[in-house]
Amino acid sequence: MQEIDVYALIGEDGFARLTAAFYRRVPHDDILGPMYPAHDLAGAEQRLRDFLVGRLGGPPRYIEQRGHPRLRARHAPFTINQAARDRWLALMREALEEAALPAEARQFLQAFLDEMSTFMINRPA
Ligand code: HEM
Repeated sequence: MQEIDVYALIGEDGFARLTAAFYRRVPHDDILGPMYPAHDLAGAEQRLRDFLVGRLGGPPRYIEQRGHPRLRARHAPFTINQAARDRWLALMREALEEAALPAEARQFLQAFLDEMSTFMINRPA
């Protein structure tokens, strides 16, 4: 996958719109809702936003605050089978639509999140 500087294209505001649209959907979802901390959705939103910002061209806030991402290890406590991965990606696709990002950034993010979410599967179907 050819990396592009998504941060230069969409800035803090683009990442904030994307993650807000995603986390607005999470609590209503029958698979994902129960997995996320109901008392700290704002914190979860910030962690994902900071990770994406730092990974895709912006300031490294996530690594400063949380250290090396080790995302597969951090997701190990959660049951991520194909269905959970597909739902996560479906909500992200909706969030990408809602965030109305420039086409080049949206296409890159879609492919990037598609690949990363498959990598996060940690249980058989
Ligand atoms: C495949 C489906 C996925 C599921 C079901 C899932 C679920 C979760 C859950 C339940 C949390 C805990 C929320 C919190 O308190 O932070 C979390 C954290 C997180 N997820 Fe995911 N996730 C998935 C994929 C991804 C992907 C593809 C990425 C990156 C592109 C990602 C990035 C993160 C980050 C950065 C955190 C915070 C980790 C930390 O610092 O503790 N997740 N995820």
